[in-house]
Amino acid sequence: QPDVKDLTMDTGVQQMLEKAREEGIETAFDRAAKMTQCGFGSQGVCCRLCLEGPCRIAPKGKGPQRGVCGADADTIVARNLYQHVMQGTSSHVEHAREIVHALIETIEGHAPYQIQGTDKLKCLAQGLGIDIEGKEINQLVKEVTAKALEDFQKQHGTLNWLKLKSHEKNFQNWEALNLLPENAHAEIAKSLARTVMGADSDPANLLMGTVKLSLVDGFAGLHMSTDLQDVMFGTPRAVKAQYRLGVIKKDMVNIAVHGHVPLLAEKVVEWAGKLEGEAPKVGAQGINIVGVCCSGNELLMRKGVNVATNYASQEMPIITGALDAMVVDIQCIMPGLQQVAQCYHTELITTIPYSKISGATHIEFSTEKADEAAREIVMRAISNFTKRDPNKISIPEEITEAYAGFSVEQIVEALSAVNKSDPLKPLVDSIASGSILGAVAIVGCTNPRRKQDKYNVELVMELIKNNVLVVATGCSAHSLGKFGLLSPDGLKYCGEGLRGVLTAVGQANGLPALPPALHMGSCVDNSRIADLLSALAGYLNVGVKDLPVAGSCPETHHPKALAIGTYFLASGVDVHVGVNPQVTGSELVTNVLTAAKEDFPITTDALFGGKIIYEEDSVKAAELIIERIKMKRKALGI
Ligand code: SF4
Ligand code: FE2
Repeated sequence: QPDVKDLTMDTGVQQMLEKAREEGIETAFDRAAKMTQCGFGSQGVCCRLCLEGPCRIAPKGKGPQRGVCGADADTIVARNLYQHVMQGTSSHVEHAREIVHALIETIEGHAPYQIQGTDKLKCLAQGLGIDIEGKEINQLVKEVTAKALEDFQKQHGTLNWLKLKSHEKNFQNWEALNLLPENAHAEIAKSLARTVMGADSDPANLLMGTVKLSLVDGFAGLHMSTDLQDVMFGTPRAVKAQYRLGVIKKDMVNIAVHGHVPLLAEKVVEWAGKLEGEAPKVGAQGINIVGVCCSGNELLMRKGVNVATNYASQEMPIITGALDAMVVDIQCIMPGLQQVAQCYHTELITTIPYSKISGATHIEFSTEKADEAAREIVMRAISNFTKRDPNKISIPEEITEAYAGFSVEQIVEALSAVNKSDPLKPLVDSIASGSILGAVAIVGCTNPRRKQDKYNVELVMELIKNNVLVVATGCSAHSLGKFGLLSPDGLKYCGEGLRGVLTAVGQANGLPALPPALHMGSCVDNSRIADLLSALAGYLNVGVKDLPVAGSCPETHHPKALAIGTYFLASGVDVHVGVNPQVTGSELVTNVLTAAKEDFPITTDALFGGKIIYEEDSVKAAELIIERIKMKRKALGI
């Protein structure tokens, strides 16, 4: 068995992994160590799209070079990538659609929520061409959600959200390349039809289809989810909270919320407050909600709820022996959680009809019955408190402090304390003067196959040392939070120029400094990063592709990251990937995405201005990213 120190940087997680081993419990880290990766699948050359197969293409020409149908490695790799992006896109689109319906049910009086983001609502309405004069909030919600629903139905034109949120130059480029999707559902259906056996087999055409689909992910998935969640729950503002397993409290009823859509998580927090008085009846001091993955992010961003851990270590809160319930909705929820939960008193509670786990309790969550479901979940957790086995309780003590809540609105507000009439000017001036070299978004996950948090943290350390401003989302942001990089304390790792800017902006806002990495939210909130880039490009009157910026997912695990990454590529942003994206079996696909061969006829770099940088070593990756940032600076004449 590998040493736990080689599996994660987080000492609390190491402690829990040791405990799991002593108690004979298997975790994702153990399964990753046992599971050898298939050499064909790793390169993307395994195809099981039809019953003539499965087929696989032997690397380096030593064996069959075509499947039974005649598909070669390029076709198979391109189709597999397309299907990964399809999975990611469909999950984000379904997330957005649920929020649209929740808003409609709310204004119709069927769902117990309140519209809290009225400024955002008005701003969206205006952007969508709706006349807002004299209209009530409910009427505006009605009209904005009607525009959102059109993005799942319209047969002509393109997505309203794409028109609303895309940078003009990108829009023109996509239109010229015939990449504008009509509606989200049709594009997903067409993609399925297109990648079926015997349909599209031209790898270049398949890649263009993948890019088109990624625009659905970006606009009808990410942007729509974020925008409408801000309408429902308000736009995040800077908050302070705590990170690591130490946020689980021995004397309290502990409930972990895990998943992605804030509709359930927000209600659990609300009902934990309402039922606080029930906790002493079972001998607990209160009710403590902790976050995992992006449900954690949503609650952190808007409510300052503490975060227990991120993706790869999601089993660890249960292993503390002090978690009374883990409630989950959709995406990134390991099926293996129940195997761990059944060794403790922890009740794993699934809530979404299309996302169940065998053996777990299922309490159906719908927006109409949100209150009943949340109440029942909290009451069950309270009664589970009495079922704890004291001999199994051991909670790691470490806690770190972190700031989050950096929506674009919050960033602009912070900058306006420096320059009220022209808030983006101080940021742009710092980039032009070289105090800030450029900006990189650290996004994505952690992956039990890579030493947890190491690659996210190492990359950020290297970037900030070189005066690169970092923003972060998703489970990567959690990695940074755990290691002090979301706190002004992390400023000591920054280069002088960056440290100076973060200190000046922080002090103008009454803080000692801003943290070296700004936490911008959940995975769907990568839309906030795109908004910030569009605003900067608009301010400078250049394209997004001209900005000295990049995105990076050093420890990703989910196909959603491939969808998001493709959307950013299409927007003109370089994307670093630290985990094998399973495309190396095709030279063509690899060259299109990475522009590795300079004279290659088509590359995403030439078409859109962004390319994939695949590098597993974070220090080397930082060098490659910085090289591209310097190249883009030079082209801008700065
Ligand atoms: Fe094999 Fe072609 Fe069928 Fe894929 S689609 S399994 S390559 S025969
Ligand atoms: Fe996420």
